[in-house]
Amino acid sequence: MYTNILVSSEEGITKITINRPAKLNALNKVTIEELHEAFNSANQDNQTQVIILTGTGEKAFVAGADISEFANFSTRQGAELARRGQELLFDFIANLETPVIAAINGFALGGGLELAMAAHFRIASENAKMGLPEVSLGVIPGYGGTQRLPQLVGKGRAMEMIMTAGMIDADQAELYGLVNHVVPLPELLPLADKLASKMIKNSPIAITSAIKAINSGFTEGENGFEREIEEFGNCFGTEDFKEGTRAFLEKRKANFKGN
Ligand code: COA
Repeated sequence: MYTNILVSSEEGITKITINRPAKLNALNKVTIEELHEAFNSANQDNQTQVIILTGTGEKAFVAGADISEFANFSTRQGAELARRGQELLFDFIANLETPVIAAINGFALGGGLELAMAAHFRIASENAKMGLPEVSLGVIPGYGGTQRLPQLVGKGRAMEMIMTAGMIDADQAELYGLVNHVVPLPELLPLADKLASKMIKNSPIAITSAIKAINSGFTEGENGFEREIEEFGNCFGTEDFKEGTRAFLEKRKANFKGN
């Protein structure tokens, strides 16, 4: 059904794998559209409670936007490329109701790191390398990188990474807070599954509310504390809240239905 991505689902977890190994999984137009489609259907599918995003092979998560597609673009086409990509994929993932874990299995460069940063959090394998090398091509990050990198690592580190166009390794990324955990490559997807399984035990509605409240604090013109109050209140109207509190009081595990 898809040309450049693979999708599989098991026990509440949907895995989306970018599968263009000959081009180090670079994001061309088709791949971006397919990813949108896959994230959208996983989000609408009641069976999916967590999405894991990774790249095929042992070399690359995603080595960037596909440079060959935009090398001849005009000013207007450049802006349009960034706007459409942000809407269709990067902001779309960041604001998805279903939690997304990026499992960075190799190079995450340019649009690849921007994609990982759009996920709700990131883990990496020891061989992973991350960077925003756009200024080395005479351009800047256009898929949210100038905004999400400083949010995750701080302004000074983001300035240095973007202006030097350099790469950092997985350990440094962990030190920076860009990724939460670093493990040997064979342990990367098992760790993603383990984290997803922990999340699945919790109320999906409450998780969605948490995503919205957290994101609100990073959204221009919104008051995150106000949004938190609103989402907190909304939780009280859900069956999951009744079940969660009742299960606690009855000293048993909660069985959340997500309603
Ligand atoms: N866009 C398009 N094609 C890309 C790509 C990208 N971002 N990144 C890699 N590829 C392609 C290469 O052109 C090459 O294709 P070819 O075999 O048809 O020539 C193939 O993927 C393998 O890449 P190659 O450069 O030969 O691998 P390497 O091991 O020598 O180097 C990298 C790996 C990641 C260091 C190098 O590919 C690279 O610098 N890529 C671009 C990174 C970048 O600037 N990204 C930001 C884009 S905004």
